[in-house]
Amino acid sequence: MLHYPVPVKLAPSILACDFTRLGEEIEAVAAAEYLHVDVMDGLFVPNISFGLPILAAAKRAAPPEQLIDVHLMIERPERYLADFAEAGADSLTVHVEATPHLHRAVQMTKALGKRSGVVVNPGTALETLRPVLGDVDLILIMSVNPGFGGQQFLPETLGRVRTVRDWLDEIGSVAELQVDGGVSASNAGALRDAGASVLVAGSSVFGAGGAAAGLAQLRAALTQGRA
Ligand code: DX5
Ligand code: ZN
Repeated sequence: MLHYPVPVKLAPSILACDFTRLGEEIEAVAAAEYLHVDVMDGLFVPNISFGLPILAAAKRAAPPEQLIDVHLMIERPERYLADFAEAGADSLTVHVEATPHLHRAVQMTKALGKRSGVVVNPGTALETLRPVLGDVDLILIMSVNPGFGGQQFLPETLGRVRTVRDWLDEIGSVAELQVDGGVSASNAGALRDAGASVLVAGSSVFGAGGAAAGLAQLRAALTQGRA
């Protein structure tokens, strides 16, 4: 198995941070490999979060080695890929449900020199990922219905992660396998064992207790039970 024993990377989601202290919150999670930026348009998902100016500010506040991981919960994301790339995204992830031109969106992202990600909602068949599996740098499996932070992790996600892990291993892909929604110290180990390589976490990092402590707790949960 390619994923084992590669250490799992962490991606704190700034959706859950205190926006009056955006810079400090990002500084507190400087040890994380990724910084996850959730863009919502109020159409693809029933919520509006933030857009280009916040992404640009997050990029300025983050350490240069941290990968700025932009999760686009917007209809027809191909309309905005160039703008988000310009504003500071290192990785652009689009929903298979949000465009009839998924392959084009992947091609466009790569032409912009950025990492290309695709994501599926909990109710979407994993088969929709198959046509682009060999082309992408990241697959994201949603473990909640997107739109809001602080929701409960859907346990059926574990089986979905195992399936996609097998598919990636079969084709020898080193694409990251990311999970987003309700991730916490209580399910991080199970997600690692299912084959996830990047865990997104909002409320479990930026919730009570401070972001640095939240990140450390998640990291500690991932080192437990390791051979
Ligand atoms: C949900 C977003 C998530 C969100 C996760 O639509 O895509 O990235 O920030 O938040 P938690 O970890 O609180 O479920
Ligand atoms: Zn997200």
